[in-house]
Amino acid sequence: MAVPIVEMIDIQKHFGHIIALSGVSFSVMPGECHCLLGDNGAGKSTFIKTMAGVHAPTHGEMKVNGETAHFANPRDAMSAGIATVYQDLAVIPLMSVSRNFWMGREPERGVWPFRTIDFKMADRVAMQEMSHMGINLREPEQAVGTLSGGERQTVAIARAVYFGAKVLILDEPTSALGVRQTANVLATIDQVRKKGIGVVFITHNVRHAMAVGDRFTVLNRGKTLGTADRGKISADELQNLMAGGQELAQLESSLGGTV
Ligand SMILES: Nc1ncnc2c1ncn2[C@@H]1O[C@H](COP(=O)(O)OP(=O)(O)OP(=O)(O)O)[C@@H](O)[C@H]1O
Ligand SMILES: [Mg+2]
Repeated sequence: MAVPIVEMIDIQKHFGHIIALSGVSFSVMPGECHCLLGDNGAGKSTFIKTMAGVHAPTHGEMKVNGETAHFANPRDAMSAGIATVYQDLAVIPLMSVSRNFWMGREPERGVWPFRTIDFKMADRVAMQEMSHMGINLREPEQAVGTLSGGERQTVAIARAVYFGAKVLILDEPTSALGVRQTANVLATIDQVRKKGIGVVFITHNVRHAMAVGDRFTVLNRGKTLGTADRGKISADELQNLMAGGQELAQLESSLGGTV
């Protein structure tokens, strides 16, 4: 049996009296896309922030490559290979694609004390990595603010992959995108998975999840309702689990149709 890159076991997270997570288990295998679904306020962001070292769990265990791990901060998680792309924090719009790609980690050239940033190489690598993800830039100096939403997500994803992510967490990467941009991001997720990286794809859109997911876990008010493999669960069943089943059935009967 393969060992998960990351395994979260019975994770609880309390914020004072608020119980955001009450016993969530979840794992990510190399090269899989594991979708985490749930309605607003279900606890998705809280859960992945625990995985990414932003929050310490109130209770529960976390393992990386089969060994118990404790992250004191996001930097610890990053050095264990867990990278997160948050919807809003992904990029700086006024800076170029290339500068956003490197974010202060630009390659240098020359011998100390004459070392300078190797802009040529930085630009070439950034262009090349973006093109591997299926996005061909006109020029590396293009400001990120002029890219489409999907392309911006791709800059952040390409950066995480280049810097050695083993697990890539994407928090609602498609929620603000139109149909074509969504398709681009889903294709990027597929590329990342093919490199053997584990992807955690958070969404509340069942169709987006079904398009790329290998496994699906549904969160509902801080609890998991189980994990299903691709092919073993239908879109309707997932949708129903997300809504909590009963509520959707009620809504359907009052609207006299299918929601
Ligand atoms: N720092 C915090 N302090 C107190 N309560 C919090 C904190 N962070 C999250 N919560 C609460 O935990 C619950 C889960 O929130 P979370 O943001 O994880 O949901 P979500 O599934 O990501 O929702 P959305 O789809 O809206 O992004 C909510 O009730 C929220 O108010
Ligand atoms: Mg959220």
